[in-house]
Amino acid sequence: MRKIAVTQPLFSGKEVEYVTDCIKSTWVSSGKYIELFEKKFATFCNTSYASTCSSGTTALHLVFLALKIKKNDEVIIPDLTYVSTANVIKYVGARPILVDVDRNIWTINPKKIEAKITKNTKAIVAVHLYGHPADMDSINLIAKKHNLIVIEDACEAHGALYNGKKVGSLSKVGCFSFSGAKIITTGEGGMIVSKDKDLMMRIESIRSNFIAKSRHFFHSDVGYPYRFTNIQAALGLAQLEKITTLMNIKIKNARIYNTLFKDEEVIQLPPQKSWAKNIFWLYSIVLKKSGLRDKLIYHLEEKGIQTRPFFVPIHKLPMYKNREKFPNSDFLSENGISLPSGLTLDSRDIERICNEVKIFLKTHA
Ligand SMILES: Cc1ncc(COP(=O)(O)O)c(C=O)c1O
Repeated sequence: MRKIAVTQPLFSGKEVEYVTDCIKSTWVSSGKYIELFEKKFATFCNTSYASTCSSGTTALHLVFLALKIKKNDEVIIPDLTYVSTANVIKYVGARPILVDVDRNIWTINPKKIEAKITKNTKAIVAVHLYGHPADMDSINLIAKKHNLIVIEDACEAHGALYNGKKVGSLSKVGCFSFSGAKIITTGEGGMIVSKDKDLMMRIESIRSNFIAKSRHFFHSDVGYPYRFTNIQAALGLAQLEKITTLMNIKIKNARIYNTLFKDEEVIQLPPQKSWAKNIFWLYSIVLKKSGLRDKLIYHLEEKGIQTRPFFVPIHKLPMYKNREKFPNSDFLSENGISLPSGLTLDSRDIERICNEVKIFLKTHA
């Protein structure tokens, strides 16, 4: 029986041609593909500037460094997210302040943000979880009222739309990841997008070890070696040229899943608000009845179907232990499961997966 992976990239464009060209030119570190990829990604996101870096985590770290977020500052983030969203705040000595997520959209609940704002609060990070945008208008409104910066962690949502606008372009600055499981990949890699020229220039300096233009090996401050390579950019450019096709595959597969699951009362389907275009980075569902999720993961594993549980909430990780209550992120984390969402999946694979889920639910739900 064929094993079905939870994610799989698709290289159906000019990946080999561009990477080969890059190697043949010997420009494997810096080179033309970086600028081409950055320009095209800025256009894709409808922003003015885009800067590559070594990962989604380093993208976020560079943003916090460039915004001069520092010791004793507080940054509001959703409790349900990948650990990097919190770690980068710790990297700069600041404190991540956790807010519960919305039970239906799975992203930060704007109604719970204001109670967490103090005189030390500097920023809010909106995470577009599993491909569905956070409620940006509500978040931006609160930020404006309290004079806070909004940062988008769009690492999982390339091309998703909020009221017709691309994620990453809805706030001061947006960050993306191109690690292997993402909708477009460069192996590892990241991108920062913004309309703020000064901020992007600071990011560029930090990322390049503050190399002076006037004198070799003169560095005006402490920087970080977070650069992206020309080889990664060659791969990224070819992937970006095909991104609409890749997004459409994810959306089409999500529709097939949704149709096959529509009569399963125990399944909460992925969010799809009227103001959003979800790109279904990982097709994820929540089992409304507790205690079934881990058994389902095991059942599917036995049948050769790989899945992922939802993230462990940040408040449950040892570095961020917190006695506050986060009922929605706890519930989603305990009962959420991401099903195979690879770009090479076909409708027969999805039928096989859904059949196995239904067989399990018949005997357990
Ligand atoms: C929400 C979120 N933020 C940040 C990251 C970090 O990206 P990277 O793995 O490229 O460092 C990820 C990666 O999966 C993510 O899902």
